[in-house]
Amino acid sequence: MPVTQEQVLDALRSVNDPDLNRDIVTLGFVKDVVIDGDRASFKVELTTPACPVKELLEEQARAAVLAIDGISEVEIEMTARVRDRQAAKEDLLPGVRQIVAIASGKGGVGKSTVSVNLAVALARLGAKVGLLDADVYGPSVPMMMGVKDERPLAQSQKIVPIERYGVRMMSIGFLLEEGQAVLWRGPMVHSTLKQLLGDVLWGELDYLLVDLPPGTGDAPMSLGQLVPLSGVVIVTTPHNVAANIAGKAAALFRRLDATLLGVVENMATFVCPTCGTATRVFAGSSGEELANELDVPYLGSIPLDPTVSEAAERGEPSVLAYPDGVQARAFNEIAGKLAAQLSIRSEGASEAEDRAGLQPVKG
Ligand SMILES: Nc1ncnc2c1ncn2[C@@H]1O[C@H](COP(=O)(O)OP(=O)(O)O)[C@@H](O)[C@H]1O
Ligand SMILES: [Mg+2]
Repeated sequence: MPVTQEQVLDALRSVNDPDLNRDIVTLGFVKDVVIDGDRASFKVELTTPACPVKELLEEQARAAVLAIDGISEVEIEMTARVRDRQAAKEDLLPGVRQIVAIASGKGGVGKSTVSVNLAVALARLGAKVGLLDADVYGPSVPMMMGVKDERPLAQSQKIVPIERYGVRMMSIGFLLEEGQAVLWRGPMVHSTLKQLLGDVLWGELDYLLVDLPPGTGDAPMSLGQLVPLSGVVIVTTPHNVAANIAGKAAALFRRLDATLLGVVENMATFVCPTCGTATRVFAGSSGEELANELDVPYLGSIPLDPTVSEAAERGEPSVLAYPDGVQARAFNEIAGKLAAQLSIRSEGASEAEDRAGLQPVKG
């Protein structure tokens, strides 16, 4: 008796996505099952190219199908399609699947460092990534991405984003003269952000990361009003956790109805350049404790390391400059966890929609 598609699907029902907590058949990940004699081939379409358990799922899927009597060869194509956030009726960014703001209570905690490295890490994993520098008070993305002397061009009344390291970028810094001081008022912030979102040719993006100015002022408020956000990542240092600055910012974001996607701890440990051991530099609470307190995911910790800021000054994010370093590993891990959180949340939202009989805004 030849093996049937049903048998293959049944076998694959034993493979669970640990983040989404369901099997890959129920999740609709398995596509194009073809059986040719003793050979089975199929596609597994994950919710993100940055899936942290991609290899594990592939291995389990292969083992499950190889266990079927009559199958001795399995070919799997691992693909990904990032699911959509809840879009608005008249969305400024209809081609952007997920919009994530990177925020903090105070400046200097490493928001921009985290933003550029996550953007590059996601792009390297195969995602289409945009990075919007919305820090009206201190735009630093152009410097950190090595494009500070570039100026974006216009094309049919729209602005073409600058592309570097596989990331499409736009920064308020491109629109200012060097050293130009601006006294930002709320309505100006709003209209400038609107322009940076709506008048830029972002195209199709899986992820748009937005590097916010510190705190919960006009920029995050406007951003939330202008586009439906997937959520906010809070970056913090041990000092800010101890002083409850990060906690207060998180609480305010909650009041703005933003989903907290998780906490990233920065500069809590120091890695010895000779022996590689990580030591906690400050006493007191950690990003992980804050995440627990807020009941949000803890996404990870980036050690304090002079090479991080040295690479940033040079315009080459450390995930690229030192791809084998501890920091690169930390950033890649955080990128995977963030992508997984976004998948979990869009999956949950589309189920709620199904229950309510609503149609997704776009396919
Ligand atoms: N893990 C790290 N190790 C060493 N230096 C860091 C690290 N993270 C950030 N920095 C440095 O700290 C300074 C502030 O970081 P930045 O990302 O600009 O913070 P923010 O955007 O929150 O104001 C920068 O000079 C940056 O290079
Ligand atoms: Mg910054």
